[in-house]
Amino acid sequence: MGIKPVSEKIDLDGQLIIGGKKVTDLVDEFGTPLYILDQDTVEKNCQDYLQALSKNYPKSLVVFAGKACLNVGLLNILADQGLGVDVVSGGELFTALRSKMNPLNIIFHGNNKSIEELEIAVENNVRIILDNEQELENVKQVTARLGKKARLMIRIKPEIEAHTHEYIKTGQIDSKFGIDKNDLIKIAKLIVSDDKLDFLGIHSHIGSQIFDVNPFEDLASLMIEKVALIKSELGIDVPEINCGGGIGIQYVESDDPPAVSDFVTRLCSKLKAACERENLELPLLMLEPGRSIVGTAGITAYKIGTVKRIENVKNYVFIDGGMADNPRPIMYQAEYTFGLANKADKPTTDTFSIAGKFCESGDILANGISLPDAEVGDVLVVYGTGAYNYSMASNYNRFCRPAMVVVKDGAARYLVKRETFQDLVNLDVV
Ligand code: LLP
Repeated sequence: MGIKPVSEKIDLDGQLIIGGKKVTDLVDEFGTPLYILDQDTVEKNCQDYLQALSKNYPKSLVVFAGKACLNVGLLNILADQGLGVDVVSGGELFTALRSKMNPLNIIFHGNNKSIEELEIAVENNVRIILDNEQELENVKQVTARLGKKARLMIRIKPEIEAHTHEYIKTGQIDSKFGIDKNDLIKIAKLIVSDDKLDFLGIHSHIGSQIFDVNPFEDLASLMIEKVALIKSELGIDVPEINCGGGIGIQYVESDDPPAVSDFVTRLCSKLKAACERENLELPLLMLEPGRSIVGTAGITAYKIGTVKRIENVKNYVFIDGGMADNPRPIMYQAEYTFGLANKADKPTTDTFSIAGKFCESGDILANGISLPDAEVGDVLVVYGTGAYNYSMASNYNRFCRPAMVVVKDGAARYLVKRETFQDLVNLDVV
């Protein structure tokens, strides 16, 4: 898979090029910090899924997990590739409805959707992933009021152990997401017996940044077991299953995620074998990758404002962003790969701690990073920031959230503009 965008090159002057654009030129034009998304990488990552599925399981839909990175322009690129999108809030749903995404390819998650959010989903024929029994009551209220059918999938907790950070595990029994898998028949019965509700199938997600394919294979078997159970108990074919997202990506040299094609091939083999065993028709398969679609497509560029050397202790480079545009190191001890865009051909000379400018001593993106001789004015790049950076960015310390540009074939355009000081006070009431 690789850590870096597929279009990355270094020119004869040692300048880093992404999407045919010099990173230093992008920084001059759009300022820093800057999220840069390489469209070629996004498209390649989509194609890795689509091609593996068309070979192994053509009856399928790839649904991008919008929480990884969501804006209208990116969704339009993904819609052109044939992807759908999963959203988890009214705001994400609104964004998706503003894009080219076909509402029939939007699916709506969340453990506490509001009545207003459910109304927008039902109005627009968006699939709702049912999280709990109270939500079923709420959906019924909405369908009664709107006189319109709701399209539902049930989210179950698979109780499959996935080795990843505690905060990003989701499939275990004490998870806040989904219903106990032993309650599936009870809930499915309630849906099937209501003519205002369309029962589309079952959903499950085991976690995120997972390198081992085995738990996904176990999930495939479990899903088909449940499809067979519904058939035998309720006498109906389950049209759709959704196996969630979660395949990991490479952030640093030591990360070793599986290739998407291997992951898809192995998952699909299990699904097909289980269906054959149970004598079932293949249901439509949905997958919900987020990180593995956009993660490696993104880099963040910062300007180095100060280099602080503490003799015999450590060297700091101070950048003009940090924990507000990339909270992952402080939240999950996430690791990244770094470089200098204007010295991309230079050998490393020293190790540095990369410190942000936020008023918090934990605002360190990394320690012990080898870089060429770092100086004031250099452009520091962080690789692998396409997922869960922009979408998790905050205005901590009243910092303006950065712009995001997409680059392809020597052209750059905004996906999101930089916030301004005026934006920061717009909602203040004096
Ligand atoms: N589907 C569901 C239901 C999910 O909850 C998630 C991620 C995905 C799909 C996409 O998973 P992915 O393919 O991106 O691994 N903020 C954390 C990650 C949280 C993931 C939450 N759910 C981080 O920065 O690592």
